[in-house]
Amino acid sequence: MDQYVVIGNPIAHSKSPSIHAAFAEQTRQQLAYQRLMAPLESFVQTVETFRASGGKGANVTVPFKLEAYALANQPANQLTPRAAAAGAVNTLKFEVDHLIGDNTDGIGLVADIMNNAGVPLCGKRVLLLGAGGAARGAILPLLEQQPASLWIANRTLSKAQDLRAIAQQFSPSSVVEVATFEQLSGPFDVIINATSASLSDDVPPLPTGIMTSATLAYDMMYAATPTAFLRLAHEWGAVCRDGLGMLVEQAAEAFYLWRGVRPQTEPVLRTLRTELQAIKPV
Ligand code: ATR
Repeated sequence: MDQYVVIGNPIAHSKSPSIHAAFAEQTRQQLAYQRLMAPLESFVQTVETFRASGGKGANVTVPFKLEAYALANQPANQLTPRAAAAGAVNTLKFEVDHLIGDNTDGIGLVADIMNNAGVPLCGKRVLLLGAGGAARGAILPLLEQQPASLWIANRTLSKAQDLRAIAQQFSPSSVVEVATFEQLSGPFDVIINATSASLSDDVPPLPTGIMTSATLAYDMMYAATPTAFLRLAHEWGAVCRDGLGMLVEQAAEAFYLWRGVRPQTEPVLRTLRTELQAIKPV
């Protein structure tokens, strides 16, 4: 049976094995998918050992996405354009004589917004909050949908300017604007929180008026209860969505890269949602 893993440290919490098991069952693909804990100092060795044992591909999660990028960026290997733009790799596919590094996080976000939430991005005013790795991964897939404009707002303006430079390198004709949170003037059609503020139950200091009842407020994070950003967005009357669908969609895109078959994401997302809601907040 073909072997796949998700490599991270820590990794015990990963939902990827259950998502890929559901995809495999649904599409009748014969494969096994497991968690693989890599020691912090030996990611590449862990990949090579798994590959030598016959592994076909791997997902890569925290803290190894930059190391996976460096590995795929070696001359003998191959990096997809969206992984090059993201500067990070979350999916490895092992070919006979080389490996391919891809990044499916951004396309997963876009698929969840457009296909699952039913919100188009073409011609819309889109605001991305944050300028770290999560934001960078989203930029090219968002621009490919040809929004009217893409704003990047960050606490540290220079990092938003760096992201704009990367965006313009990969998508020269796109309109990308940068701002601090205070400088923002809305409303926006879609606002995506790619800051890590939600991890500390915090929210960027957003000015009022950036959301209306027609705005989709999207948090890349998910939890059993709404993040601070989604609580604020709810108070301001926006349509709210967390990142659980993005998790499922990025997995579906990796599955497609490996197997050439596109699984249905809706039933898997429904199951995960039910499981998440069953978690009682402490
Ligand atoms: P990730 O890989 O999750 O994107 P990261 O690369 O460390 O993590 O980036 C974290 C992002 O969240 C940054 O944009 C950071 O802002 P700065 O660049 O100014 O540091 C942002 N961030 C983190 N905590 C925040 C908070 N409490 N309020 C606003 N922005 C925050």
